[in-house]
Amino acid sequence: MFARSFGGTTMGVDGLIIAVEVDSAAGLPAFDIVGLPDTAVRESKERVRTAIRNSGIQLRQEKVTINLAPAGIRKDSPGLDLPIAVGLLAAYGVVPADCLQTSFFAAELSLEGECRPVRGILPMVIAAREKGLTSVFVARGNANEALLVEGVTVYVIDCLHEVVQFCNGQESLTPAVPSMEEAAPVLRDDFADVQGQFQAKRALEIAAAGGHNLLMIGVPGSGKTMLARRLSSILPRLSREEALEVTKIYSIAGLLPQGGGLVQERPFRSPHHTTSMVAMIGGGSVPRPGEVTLAHHGVLFLDELPEFSKATLEVLRQPLEDRAVTISRIHATLTFPSSMILICAMNPCPCGYYGDESGGRSCECSPSEIRRYTRKISGPLLDRIDIHIRVPRVAYQELASKRRAEDSATIRGRVERARQRQLARLQPYGRFCNAQMNHTILRETCQLTGEAQSLLEMAFRRMSLSARSYDRIIKVARTIADLENPEDGAEAAAALGPQHIAEAIGLRSDIGLAVE
Ligand SMILES: Nc1ncnc2c1ncn2[C@@H]1O[C@H](COP(=O)(O)OP(=O)(O)OP(=O)(O)O)[C@@H](O)[C@H]1O
Ligand SMILES: [Mg+2]
Repeated sequence: MFARSFGGTTMGVDGLIIAVEVDSAAGLPAFDIVGLPDTAVRESKERVRTAIRNSGIQLRQEKVTINLAPAGIRKDSPGLDLPIAVGLLAAYGVVPADCLQTSFFAAELSLEGECRPVRGILPMVIAAREKGLTSVFVARGNANEALLVEGVTVYVIDCLHEVVQFCNGQESLTPAVPSMEEAAPVLRDDFADVQGQFQAKRALEIAAAGGHNLLMIGVPGSGKTMLARRLSSILPRLSREEALEVTKIYSIAGLLPQGGGLVQERPFRSPHHTTSMVAMIGGGSVPRPGEVTLAHHGVLFLDELPEFSKATLEVLRQPLEDRAVTISRIHATLTFPSSMILICAMNPCPCGYYGDESGGRSCECSPSEIRRYTRKISGPLLDRIDIHIRVPRVAYQELASKRRAEDSATIRGRVERARQRQLARLQPYGRFCNAQMNHTILRETCQLTGEAQSLLEMAFRRMSLSARSYDRIIKVARTIADLENPEDGAEAAAALGPQHIAEAIGLRSDIGLAVE
């Protein structure tokens, strides 16, 4: 007999519905799975047969063929165990085939027939809904994730036996309901912990407001890592759409906490400097998201930048530019989103003390050592970093001060307002923050007052700035103006004044790695 059930797999960050076609016929006993199954799916025949037997169901020995359609796409989800088992039972007439027509199944089976959670449930259930499958059967650990999708009925199943009884009308299952309480977002690291460092905090606020990438250079212990870790606490809160996108990515990567629902906080990824190229941008025979995608809508922090391999840093150029990574494989070309703020931190030289006179330690590195240290960070990468700052050592008085610094919630308020202003201006161009402006948009949206123009011209001549710095200074100046709180509550200044340009010049990006 023939039967069809529906399961799913993931492709990039999207789900894909797989039709599991099962045919059982008299003939030499066999059990074949065709349609590009990966190892995890090929092994599923052993799990499925044993799980069915251990659920107390005896099947005749027949020639069974299982086809996973569409056949051209490689399937790697162990979540296909359950639809294969259910399809097989329908082909044998153990459950009625018509109850499978609008149902979606996804769970891994244990040899005993227990259902286990799998990754990628959220994108799969979204795909199921689009396909018109209205009943969704998942393991308990996946319920909260499946419930994020509106318009489907989610059933939690603990073992294969329950599905058989439900399909045969012998047992009723109550649809799972979303838990009403949404976890309050917890801000673990707060800017209130950081004493002093006003200039660095201001630079991070500007970076957060305009979506600018930032490089911090400073002596060991000056607080670079501490500052960077707090950046996601001042970024605007995630919208529901953004939160769903992030949750999809974490679901596919298998990084959602057990029983976790929607991701509420912006991601903060801090990969170690030994991270490989593939781990950084994603890949593998069935491509998985890399660090740049896991940081989507959040922060990618590269601490000790020169320690990363040159190849790993070079591959960042495309995702930074396109805000997406494209990975080609024989069977498909996949695109992973990677819209994030890149924060880099480094010491000025191998010993860490170059240019620091205040600490009583002087730099012991030779100019050639310093050059070798900074050479790894290529021009094209620096090109994509709008703001460069020096982070000085914190003065004792500031560290010992009892005064509480401004907290992240207050800073976030200002950042959110600045983002709204940018959105209003840039939406017609399909952009949402100043860092995304290209030269044309910049020319159309950023006017300078006469005074600002002459200041920029003077700086340009005196400091021999590059053409590249020109755009960057204006972009950063635009964000600085958007952060302003005009006394009368009106819109941010339409034209950029000399004070905006002056501050942006101070944050300009070609000071950083100069070795005099
Ligand atoms: N401004 C500050 N206010 C309060 N504590 C600080 C400040 N700066 C640094 N610290 C303390 O010093 C510790 C070291 O800071 P951090 O690790 O961020 O330095 P770093 O600049 O990243 O150093 P390295 O170059 O060695 O990586 C922090 O964990 C924190 O306890
Ligand atoms: Mg550090």
